[in-house]
Amino acid sequence: MGLFTSSTRSIPDTGEVPQHIAIIMDGNGRWAKKRFMPRIAGHKRGVETVRKTVKACTELGVGYLTLFAFSSENWRRPAEEVSFLMQLFMLALEQEITKLHKNNIRLKVVGDRSRFEEKLVEMIRRAESLTQNNTGLTLTIAANYGGRWDLVQATHRMIEAKPECALIFSEADLEPYLSTSYAPEPDLFIRTGGEQRISNFLLWQLAYTELYFTDTLWPDFNTMALKRAIKSFQQRERRFGRTSEQLKKNA
Ligand code: IPE
Ligand code: IPE
Ligand code: MG
Repeated sequence: MGLFTSSTRSIPDTGEVPQHIAIIMDGNGRWAKKRFMPRIAGHKRGVETVRKTVKACTELGVGYLTLFAFSSENWRRPAEEVSFLMQLFMLALEQEITKLHKNNIRLKVVGDRSRFEEKLVEMIRRAESLTQNNTGLTLTIAANYGGRWDLVQATHRMIEAKPECALIFSEADLEPYLSTSYAPEPDLFIRTGGEQRISNFLLWQLAYTELYFTDTLWPDFNTMALKRAIKSFQQRERRFGRTSEQLKKNA
């Protein structure tokens, strides 16, 4: 499995659709609150949106879809909500894995698993190994993920593998140890729910990603909304530090 070079060094092909879309799925709680429902009802509906988004991305020919499901800071939420989210994650894995596999989808889970219960860790392991050779969409679920955690774990693993890197190392030395090293950097980042922040998502990987924010709450996000985001992406010029003239000359 070849590693991808940083998109900040070479201009990736901006085809019809972004190769890698990363999404902060935000607004479940507010969606529920508006309907006088408990927050967890919003999370349940959010899973439906995940299902639809995965299907839409497969049909559109997106290669990689990365979804932020639970951040390393989300443990600060009320214990009942955290526990519900964990149960929901397990239920979704259990219910969807066969279908994902049938659809040739490769599932990856990134994040710190050390706080997960053994049953969940085992389910993740099985789901990943079942789908590891699939060649369709790579679906990554970021669970107990934090961009800072990713950088720290990558540094630790790098030094373990290459002790000489403890003194000095380069970007290229570190990159293979990031938790998403199997994927190119995201081309398009989407955050639903109206907030305009990264909330400790893929800090390194988003260096040159096109950012798109929408007020639409995650349970209301649909294929049309996804296509709107992609359209916005296609109208942008990615320069990676170069001038517009340089890009036109090379086109
Ligand atoms: C996103 O929705 C889901 C998770 C963070 C797990 P929220 O639960 O953050 O919804 P809001 O932001 O409170 O509306
Ligand atoms: C970000 O949403 C994390 C996920 C969507 C999993 P939050 O709702 O937790 O983010 P903040 O706290 O508003 O920044
Ligand atoms: Mg939120």
